Amino acid sequence: MDLAKLNQYLAVRDTMGGWITPGAAELFAWVDRLQKEEGIVGNLFEIGVHHGKTSVLLGNFADSTKERMGVCDVFGLAEKNITESGHGDREIFLNNFKSYVGDCSFLQVFEKRSAELVLDEIGTGYRFFHIDGGHSAGEVFGDLCLAESALSERGIIAVDDYFNGAWPGVSEGVCRFMFERPARLAPVAVGFNKVLFSRPSQQKWYVQQLSAPGWEHYFDGLDPSTKLREFFGVEIAVYIASPKVPILDRIGYRFKSLVGRLRNL
Ligand SMILES: C[S@@+](CC[C@H](N)C(=O)[O-])C[C@H]1O[C@@H](n2cnc3c(N)ncnc32)[C@H](O)[C@@H]1O
Repeated sequence: MDLAKLNQYLAVRDTMGGWITPGAAELFAWVDRLQKEEGIVGNLFEIGVHHGKTSVLLGNFADSTKERMGVCDVFGLAEKNITESGHGDREIFLNNFKSYVGDCSFLQVFEKRSAELVLDEIGTGYRFFHIDGGHSAGEVFGDLCLAESALSERGIIAVDDYFNGAWPGVSEGVCRFMFERPARLAPVAVGFNKVLFSRPSQQKWYVQQLSAPGWEHYFDGLDPSTKLREFFGVEIAVYIASPKVPILDRIGYRFKSLVGRLRNL
């Protein structure tokens, strides 16, 4: 997604209920841009839609002439929403999608528990798969198994809330997947409450791209820096966000701390 389109999305983001932060939207848009530059074509999927705050972003990534998008949420089937990680509403979601994506012809909606999804109905060849549905360890493990089977060779899986202490089941589900199904996926980046995974064969390429010059233009509201850190045995890009501090405030802060230190001499 180019910067102009990303800024259009960020301008309407707050009109939709849901949880994607500007930093996470910027990171997803940067991944989409890298994939497009590389000629990576594929489908998009989101498990856990709520009101469509992230689905609308993914819908804007898609080239509807050659890519499909799928979403899955229990929506009105409240008894199936065991972790209550949000409350999907199909009507609000579809209104948001129509308003901010427009074309719905490439969208397929699965109203059910993600555990009931089968590969035959969603198909394969996904270049971007976002997991943000039920937040128990079992649900996350199952969602990762499905996403991995559906992922194209060069696709990305994004998992929400891995480092959110309010949802420990998410990290448990991911760790279970990584240990029980080794060498299927490798992490490539952590940031803005998301962990991104690729196939091991693409891991180095994504890390290189995600930390190469250019990414910083995509992070407007924040002032992130990338570091290379080890995670599940490989080096990944870690985005460390700190609020942007105006240059004059920074100089003022340094001046005050210098005066403080001189006083203490
Ligand atoms: C955290 S919210 C999703 C937020 C959304 N991705 C966004 O961008 O705002 C979690 C969603 O998952 C749905 N959900 C919960 N358990 C589910 C399950 N087992 N299968 C599918 N969807 C589920 C809930 O209805 C809720 O809408």
